[in-house]
Amino acid sequence: ARSRDFDGVRVVVSAGGTREPLDPVRFLGNRSSGRQGIALAEAARDRGADVTLVAANLDVQPPQGMRVVPASTASELREIMHAESRDAGVVIMAAAVADYRPDTVSEGKIKKEDRGDTLQLTLVRNPDILRGLVEARANNQIIVGFAAETERNPDAFLDLGRAKVRRKGSDLLVLNRVGWTEGFATSGNEVVVLDTRGDIVGEASGSKRDVADRILDAIIRRQR
Ligand code: C5P
Repeated sequence: ARSRDFDGVRVVVSAGGTREPLDPVRFLGNRSSGRQGIALAEAARDRGADVTLVAANLDVQPPQGMRVVPASTASELREIMHAESRDAGVVIMAAAVADYRPDTVSEGKIKKEDRGDTLQLTLVRNPDILRGLVEARANNQIIVGFAAETERNPDAFLDLGRAKVRRKGSDLLVLNRVGWTEGFATSGNEVVVLDTRGDIVGEASGSKRDVADRILDAIIRRQR
C-alpha cells in the first residue's frame, strides 16, 4: 500500500512555463512542458494531499483528482500563487517563470510591413514570485523552489544552487540540469535537493514521478 504521509496537507504546485504577450497573437515563452510539476502534483495526491495545480501553459493534460487553476503570464501566476498559498502547508514553484516581459503589449499585430528589417524589443524584469511567497509565508509553511541550470561543471553547478537558495530564502531548492536534451520536455530527470543553507538533503534520478516522490520525501523530513 502507498504511504499516506501527506494526508490532509494542502499542497499548491505551479507547473509549466509562463507566456509573456508581445501582441494579440505572439508571446515570449520557454520550453518547460510542466511534466515535473505535474508528477509532483500526482505524487502528492497519491500520498493523500489536497492538491491545487496552478497550470501555466502545460504541454500535457492536467491530471484528475486535484483542483486545476490556469495562469498564463508571470503576473497572473503571481496573483494566483499568493491567493492559493494562503492556507497551504506546502508550496512548490516548479513553473518556469519568464524573468522578463515585453515593456508594452501591442494592441494590434506587430507588422513587418511597418517595422522593416530589424525589430527592437524592450523587456522589463518580472517580479520574483518565489521570493514574494517566502516573504508572505505563514508559520510552518514549507516553500520549495526549483533551479534549472545549464552549468556543466558539477561544483559550479552546486554553487549556483547554493547561491540561489540563499537569494530566494525557500526551505528547499530542487536543482536540475537543463539543456537542449536534458530536463525540459523529457520524461526523466536528475536532481539534487538543497536545504535553505545549501546543504544537500536529497538526490534523485529516474522518471519524473520517482524524482517527485523523492522530493516529497525531503519535504516530509523537513516537516518533522
Ligand atoms: O532565478 P530562477 O529563475 O533560476 O529561479 C527559479 C525558481 O524561482 C523557480 O522555482 C521558479 O518557479 C521561481 N521564479 C519565480 N519568479 C520568477 C523567476 C523564477 O518564482 N520571476
